[in-house]
Amino acid sequence: MTVLTPFLFVATSLLSLAYAQPSPDVQKRISAAIKNAANATNVDYTEFVNVFIGTDNFGDVCPGASIPFGMVKFSTDLTGYAPAGYVTDPTQKIRGLSPLHDSGTGSSLGMIPSLSLSRASKLGLMYCKGTYGNFEILPLLCPDGFDTCTTTLDSRERFRKNNTDDASPGYFAQTLDNGIMMEATSTRRAGLERFTFPKGSKPYFVLDLANDLPASFAGGRMDIDPDLGRITLGGLWGSSFGPGQFHYQAFACYDLLDGGKQQLSEYGVWTGDTEGLDAKGLGMTHLNLSINLIGGVYQSGALFSYEGNPSQVNIRVGVSFRSVEQACLNAETEVGNSTFEDIMAQSKSLWNEKLSKVQVDLAHTPANVTELLYSSLYRASLTPNNATDETQGVFENTTYPYFDSLYCSWDTFRTYYPLMSLHSPVEFAQIVNSYIDGYRKRGWMPECRANNLPGWTQGGSSGDVIVGHFAMTYHNEAAALGIDLEELYAAMIADGDVNPPEWNIQGRQVNVYKQYGYVPFAVLDTMSTGRQTREGSRTLRWDALWIHYSQSLICAQYAFEDFAIRQVALLLDKTDDVATYTNRSFFYRNVWDPTVTNDGFKGFMQKRFSNGTFVYTDPVDCSPNDNDTSRDCSLQDDNISGFYESSSWEYSWFAPHDTAHLIQLMGGNDTFVQRLDHFFNAGYYLAGNEPSFQTPIGYHYANTPTKSVDRVRDVVFTNFDITPAGLPGNDDQAAMATLLVFHLLGLYPVPSTTQFLILSPFTPQYTIHNSYLNVSTTITTKNFDARSVQKTIPKGVAAYVKSVTVNGQVSPSKCHFDFYDVFRLGGEVVIEVTSDKNAVDDCGASVPESLSTGGFAQPR
Ligand SMILES: *[C@@H]1O[C@H](CO)[C@@H](O)[C@H](O)[C@H]1NC(C)=O
Ligand SMILES: *[C@@H]1O[C@H](CO)[C@@H](O)[C@H](O)[C@H]1NC(C)=O
Ligand SMILES: *[C@@H]1O[C@H](CO)[C@@H](O)[C@H](O)[C@H]1NC(C)=O
Ligand SMILES: *[C@@H]1O[C@H](CO)[C@@H](O)[C@H](O)[C@H]1NC(C)=O
Ligand SMILES: *[C@@H]1O[C@H](CO)[C@@H](O)[C@H](O)[C@H]1NC(C)=O
Ligand SMILES: *[C@@H]1O[C@H](CO)[C@@H](O)[C@H](O)[C@H]1NC(C)=O
Ligand SMILES: *[C@@H]1O[C@H](CO)[C@@H](O)[C@H](O)[C@H]1NC(C)=O
Ligand SMILES: *[C@@H]1O[C@H](CO)[C@@H](O)[C@H](O)[C@H]1NC(C)=O
Ligand SMILES: *[C@@H]1O[C@H](CO)[C@@H](O)[C@H](O)[C@H]1NC(C)=O
Ligand SMILES: *[C@@H]1O[C@H](CO)[C@@H](O)[C@H](O)[C@H]1NC(C)=O
Ligand SMILES: *[C@@H]1O[C@H](CO)[C@@H](O)[C@H](O)[C@H]1NC(C)=O
Repeated sequence: MTVLTPFLFVATSLLSLAYAQPSPDVQKRISAAIKNAANATNVDYTEFVNVFIGTDNFGDVCPGASIPFGMVKFSTDLTGYAPAGYVTDPTQKIRGLSPLHDSGTGSSLGMIPSLSLSRASKLGLMYCKGTYGNFEILPLLCPDGFDTCTTTLDSRERFRKNNTDDASPGYFAQTLDNGIMMEATSTRRAGLERFTFPKGSKPYFVLDLANDLPASFAGGRMDIDPDLGRITLGGLWGSSFGPGQFHYQAFACYDLLDGGKQQLSEYGVWTGDTEGLDAKGLGMTHLNLSINLIGGVYQSGALFSYEGNPSQVNIRVGVSFRSVEQACLNAETEVGNSTFEDIMAQSKSLWNEKLSKVQVDLAHTPANVTELLYSSLYRASLTPNNATDETQGVFENTTYPYFDSLYCSWDTFRTYYPLMSLHSPVEFAQIVNSYIDGYRKRGWMPECRANNLPGWTQGGSSGDVIVGHFAMTYHNEAAALGIDLEELYAAMIADGDVNPPEWNIQGRQVNVYKQYGYVPFAVLDTMSTGRQTREGSRTLRWDALWIHYSQSLICAQYAFEDFAIRQVALLLDKTDDVATYTNRSFFYRNVWDPTVTNDGFKGFMQKRFSNGTFVYTDPVDCSPNDNDTSRDCSLQDDNISGFYESSSWEYSWFAPHDTAHLIQLMGGNDTFVQRLDHFFNAGYYLAGNEPSFQTPIGYHYANTPTKSVDRVRDVVFTNFDITPAGLPGNDDQAAMATLLVFHLLGLYPVPSTTQFLILSPFTPQYTIHNSYLNVSTTITTKNFDARSVQKTIPKGVAAYVKSVTVNGQVSPSKCHFDFYDVFRLGGEVVIEVTSDKNAVDDCGASVPESLSTGGFAQPR
């Protein structure tokens, strides 16, 4: 969802660096664990994970307590721009601890740090940021009793005790500046919270019914059962990345008595607003609120205290998207009477099962690489959220697995699912089934599903590439994994051939695309609606900017989705469709304007009118080198429009399935290489934007693979590190995390194919386990030199691929191999590296495949 990533705010970043959160002990603990693990036999991989990477610098990562693919992620919610709840910035205040969060998603209406509420409302934006954060609880000290407790949002928010934040897989802790410590651990749909109060104080808690992070409450109710010590609550809230008309339902069940070990003192309800309403009802037990039609934030919830000044209070929380009864049942069945330590240990063991699917040579891998790798693998299993059996709306009662927070498929098709395909076909199949279920229930597969609601589409229907990748890699096992390939294919065809009435939220505008061979700018479409025609909506601003720069993007993206359909058509022998969709795979060429020149390079993707005339857009526009500070998408613009989509410079590289032809369009291999060099050196590249993911490896296609190796080293060390600010922007549902994993492992996938591009690993050896296929693949970097693991590979240091051997056979190409020969069979791969760059700067027998040069001829 990079379209919505706010850009560089230098001041904020500097501030956070100056007052580094979390606790310095976190990094010390991780470094010690990596060191100690060198010779260990029983490795605990969770100890290498730094969950705080990406919690600053707009990484939007949630460091909260979660199990793999957990529906709940317990984290605090902070003021300011904090779409995932938590941020490291110590100038922001804590509003409460809450169970529902997404990780790495940003939001469509992000409040940017210095954008004031009045400015936002002038712009027609609601006070909106991020998503979830419902059912916040905050421990309070109310020395003057119940009626004086600070329950409203503004009055209750508090600073943290600086440099004490702590978290690890399955655990989250933060201490308020008044000394109260909050901890959480979780199961899939429930969790335990533990609060430690200063000695002798009476514990009070405020529980919020109404507010979520985007302040989107549309009504709900709450009931306190003082005898049972149980508060049930639920309601309706708005989407984080979709139409404001849609609402989702959510419910929670708070058990306050710790199985009878704790006793309530006072309890009641409260309501408040920002204009002076601050009322409390001691002894009252019900709230029933409808939507506040005039707008604004109506605040309301429960307030309660405990007898006997216990220094520690344990609270059990269940969450459901179905009902309060289900929320309570989830807490009972998933947590029951287990202790905090039990649940934490259980979560940790689930994480180890996921993390140990990739094992590196811990003794000889640079410590930062180990930390980056396992922290990234952690996020690669943190989302999407497994909401199976928790469905609502048209998915209610579905008998299929259900995953939410699929935003956006445009982000995750490139690296996220290809990584999953290496080691987790079972999980991959469940998610693919959930994509297909979107087609079953709504007619099209989901593109940006969030909050159990359809979200805005980005590049069309990228779900096609995701399910296509599954089909290409696991068609032999599909049936056993619960996937009917014919149905999968039917879902792809629906996306590729059936024009939805409204392509903002699903499908593609294929009617005009098929007619013109591209999506024309300003085209008359009498049969469907989408961004171009929607007016007055609260996201018009962003959509207008999107459509202005996206005509070529849409076409290039549609063409790649068509390639995915073509791949599966070929697999399933759908001969006519193979012809149609192969043809459409080339449609990216229709937006190539050979006459546009920039910085001495000729030919750029451009938007086009329906009569065929190109509409000139300066290729520099909206790139980091755009000097126009008034342009909507400009980087240098003030906070309201510091959003970036993509420039023609950037998108003109996008034809992953047909790069050979792109090279021709650009004027041949030499020019292509020069243009790539210029693209990076002149600063057009943006590591944090998905269309740029494959660009550093573009050199492979021009038969100069050592340049890819150099470029990837540079990209990694310029853009990623182990600090909270260590991501180049939004993690995009672990799209960034999985890109980094591939870079570190010296691989890059071509989505919807079984081809992998070979680079130079950052580690001497690693093994990938695929327990479903019952195979393990060990990749050894022969002549590995740890000195090569830096931004610029020093002269004389081995890092360039000299040969590749797969199970004893020398691979004819040094630039690519196939999933079927490597990861499906398992065994030993040796990537031999050398310092003699010039001697090895070629691919050997073949460059990676392209459609137009006969590539991808037969699925494996
Ligand atoms: C691991 O073992 C090697 C010898 O096998 C030794 O040189 C090294 O110091 C050990 N490392 C640690 C952290 O114990
Ligand atoms: C934490 O640091 C921030 C930023 O310097 C400061 O504003 C705040 O007062 C500090 N909090 C405490 C409890 O010291
Ligand atoms: C859990 O604790 C409750 C209250 O003490 C008790 O009634 C129940 O039997 C316990 N359940 C289990 C499974 O131990
Ligand atoms: C809650 O209020 C709604 C109207 O807003 C009403 O229809 C419903 O019956 C009320 N529920 C209860 C339990 O009072
Ligand atoms: C789901 O099942 C319940 C209970 O049978 C029924 O009331 C409800 O209408 C069903 N929902 C859908 C969307 O089919
Ligand atoms: C999702 O949850 C369901 C129900 O608990 C479970 O069967 C399934 O294995 C889970 N899938 C993943 C990928 O966590
Ligand atoms: C390929 O697409 C073009 C443009 O839409 C069309 O003119 C041509 O007939 C198509 N060819 C095939 C084989 O489908
Ligand atoms: C194509 O349409 C555009 C927009 O209406 C117009 O400006 C342009 O002159 C037309 N080109 C031709 C060749 O008619
Ligand atoms: C932007 O401004 C810089 C500094 O004035 C200048 O060097 C550069 O050429 C300008 N870029 C464009 C695309 O005009
Ligand atoms: C680029 O180089 C490759 C590998 O040497 C070669 O096959 C291809 O024909 C070249 N492309 C062009 C456009 O010259
Ligand atoms: C590891 O990363 C930290 C934080 O980015 C950096 O300060 C340190 O220099 C790195 N160490 C090595 C050996 O690269």
